[in-house]
Amino acid sequence: MAEPTVAQKAPFPVDVEEGTKYFWCACGKSDNQPFCNGSHQGTEFTPLAYKAEQSRTLYFCGCKRTGGAPLCDGTHNTLE
Ligand code: FES
Ligand code: FES
Repeated sequence: MAEPTVAQKAPFPVDVEEGTKYFWCACGKSDNQPFCNGSHQGTEFTPLAYKAEQSRTLYFCGCKRTGGAPLCDGTHNTLE
């Protein structure tokens, strides 16, 4: 299984809106981080849909190695 690209070793804060669906980039190749822009074409990765239950600031994983996708779980702190 290929490893996703590290977009950045830190989360991306996003002010999400209640009821809106977001597509988190799992491959790390998108130029529109933390969201998918279609650049995963040809890779084994696909975006992960996330529907916001309430309007607030969320921290989407930028390293693409979180255990709690699509949100940061601190795993980026263990990367070299
Ligand atoms: Fe990364 Fe679509 S661009 S999952
Ligand atoms: Fe990926 Fe924090 S940015 S776990």
